[in-house]
Amino acid sequence: MSHIVALAGSTAEESKSTDLLKRLLGYVEEHGISTKLISVRDIPPNELIYGAPKNSPHLKEVTEHIERATGIIVATPIYKASYSGALKAFLDLLPEKSLVGKVVLPIATAGSSKHLLAIDYALKPVLSSLGATQILSGFFVSDNQLQRDKNGHLLLDNESELRFEEQVRTLLQSIRFIKPVSQKEYAPAEYFN
Ligand SMILES: Cc1cc2nc3c(=O)[nH]c(=O)nc-3n(C[C@H](O)[C@H](O)[C@H](O)COP(=O)(O)O)c2cc1C
Repeated sequence: MSHIVALAGSTAEESKSTDLLKRLLGYVEEHGISTKLISVRDIPPNELIYGAPKNSPHLKEVTEHIERATGIIVATPIYKASYSGALKAFLDLLPEKSLVGKVVLPIATAGSSKHLLAIDYALKPVLSSLGATQILSGFFVSDNQLQRDKNGHLLLDNESELRFEEQVRTLLQSIRFIKPVSQKEYAPAEYFN
């Protein structure tokens, strides 16, 4: 069964980018795909700042899910023209080449469209350095294209909804042909010494 891991890069308790991720996971679960949402808020702050010990149970859980996954969705708010610092701290904890053989979908929400290209100039190079070669074009939406209904559910305007659905479709089509690549199969032994 395909497995998708969603990494939520917002530190906010009520987060638009994380709620978008949850919506997306709802869609993919309807296609019989198992999912796991991991937020930067799930990692103890001292591990994010000072680095996680090798036996960190948090990191172990994260890496096991990523290893099983065929698709990874990375969501972030735009902070100071880039992705969130907490997301960078989180990605820095991952073993080298963790994203080899995975389809990666980046998602960003932002206060305005001024930093529309932040996914391309800031986030994608980091995802590539983690070994990702199949990075989808991504989904960027600004806060004025989002609103919450009376139940607190996040709604997108029509144009954004179409772009969002297209990215979900592309992700589902792309993971269909992927087999999970284990870190151990890929990485040279010295990574694990
Ligand atoms: C510290 C901080 C810095 C921000 N910097 C930017 C920015 O440079 N450009 C921008 O368009 N929006 C910026 N924003 C707005 C957020 O990107 C936007 O509200 C986003 O949807 C928040 O996502 P979240 O609810 O998932 O945290 C900033 C917000 C915060 C809190």
